[in-house]
Amino acid sequence: MLHKVPGVRYAKKAESLGADAVTVVGAEAGGHPGIEPVGTMVMAAAAARTIKIPLLVAGGIGTGEQLVAALAMGADGVAMGTRFLVSEEIWAHRSYKERLVAAGETDTTLLLQSMRNTQRALKTAHVAMIQQLEKEQAGDTQVLLPHIMGTVGRKAYETGDYEKAMLSCGQGVVFADRIEPLAAIVDRIEAEARSAMGRLQGIYQGPA
Ligand SMILES: Cc1cc2nc3c(=O)[nH]c(=O)nc-3n(C[C@H](O)[C@H](O)[C@H](O)COP(=O)(O)O)c2cc1C
Repeated sequence: MLHKVPGVRYAKKAESLGADAVTVVGAEAGGHPGIEPVGTMVMAAAAARTIKIPLLVAGGIGTGEQLVAALAMGADGVAMGTRFLVSEEIWAHRSYKERLVAAGETDTTLLLQSMRNTQRALKTAHVAMIQQLEKEQAGDTQVLLPHIMGTVGRKAYETGDYEKAMLSCGQGVVFADRIEPLAAIVDRIEAEARSAMGRLQGIYQGPA
């Protein structure tokens, strides 16, 4: 069983209950980074020092250089969500993918903290409206529910009208730089990782 958690203490719990492997997700992640988000740089290193079962890290990872960094920190692998949203195989509307290609690392935001269900999503008009509701009517889940239902997001994926929805998206969207087949994205990440490892090898060996 592979369990995914947004914190080291939850990873320890999963390990103690017999999980075969665990994915630890940092604050940069799209979706749910936990109620007390911790950046992946700290989360990964802290988890690697604590967890003995195979460890994957996630949250903001979208390049081969980051993959190598995660391995260097003691992870056995990484997981990626946001980076693949622009792959051709994803059925979302092309307008949405084009928006993601244009997006930078500051184009996502956290919301739903008032429900203790923190979510990272693309900044949209709909998300700003929900954040306003959270300020004005803190704690009133019933007011929020119609705006965060999955059907709202699904419609936006279909129509491309992303401003009308809350769509999970991580800060690693900055690395989603073109719409292309999934295999091409993976190939590029692998090439980047090999190049990063070569660079590290050069540093380790020093000048010839
Ligand atoms: C569009 C989208 C939908 C997601 N849906 C879920 C989900 O239903 N359940 C879940 O546990 N995580 C979900 N996640 C989170 C991912 O499983 C993963 O933890 C996260 O994408 C990793 O961080 P990254 O987005 O920075 O790569 C989703 C992420 C994205 C981007």
